[in-house]
Amino acid sequence: MVCIRPATIDDLLQMQRCNLLCLPENYQLKYYFYHILSWPQLLHVAEDYNGKIVGYVLAKMEEEAADPVHGHITSLAVARTHRKMGIAAKLMSATHKAMEEVFGAEYVSLHVRVSNKGAIHLYTETLGYQIQDVEAKYYANGEDAYEMRKYFNAAAAAAAKRRGKGRAAAVSDSGAGSGSKAEQQPAAAAAEAESSKAVAVSS
Ligand SMILES: CC(C)(COP(=O)(O)OP(=O)(O)OC[C@H]1O[C@@H](n2cnc3c(N)ncnc32)[C@H](O)[C@@H]1OP(=O)(O)O)[C@@H](O)C(=O)NCCC(=O)NCCS
Repeated sequence: MVCIRPATIDDLLQMQRCNLLCLPENYQLKYYFYHILSWPQLLHVAEDYNGKIVGYVLAKMEEEAADPVHGHITSLAVARTHRKMGIAAKLMSATHKAMEEVFGAEYVSLHVRVSNKGAIHLYTETLGYQIQDVEAKYYANGEDAYEMRKYFNAAAAAAAKRRGKGRAAAVSDSGAGSGSKAEQQPAAAAAEAESSKAVAVSS
């Protein structure tokens, strides 16, 4: 029997351990503290009957003024012994609910390796994410990432589509063409890489 519940400060060491066992993207303990102190409603764990943490989701709200309010999944993992039991889907749903209800998020985003077929199935088929973009060489080993996004309701998705069209029209009116998007993306990626570098532990 596994229970899905909000994480507490006491869970952080076990969450870090689960992360180290499951993923090559690892973080210093202070990054877990940063998440739980800033957005305590967004961290969830799966705990087995012995009190062992067998899965977690670590998430945050993004605070760039230029974008609509949205959440971001920093990390998700389930121990090998407990996979394909619906645990990841439940962890993600709990965090989605808090993003929408507590923080009024319009959408949630995440990055996933293009080779991670299991996670891609979970995100697109089970949870309703869509591929937004491909970020070349996003990972330390040079692998590309899909940037994925899930809108929490149809109105938000339609508004985003309209904003996208409006921006495209404004760009072509100004004669800037597609160069404007190309200029913005590396800057955003560099900023994110910079912030994760500050906390990444070499594994
Ligand atoms: C990806 C991961 C979190 C999935 O956890 P999980 O608890 O096994 O996922 P769930 O049981 O909730 O599965 C949800 C859906 O994804 C599917 N799925 C899960 N793992 C899969 C796999 N390896 N291959 C194909 N489909 C898979 C399930 O069949 C289920 O599909 P359904 O809803 O159509 O029945 C887990 O495999 C893991 O921790 N992997 C290593 C870390 C990782 O890759 N994290 C994501 C980084 S972006």
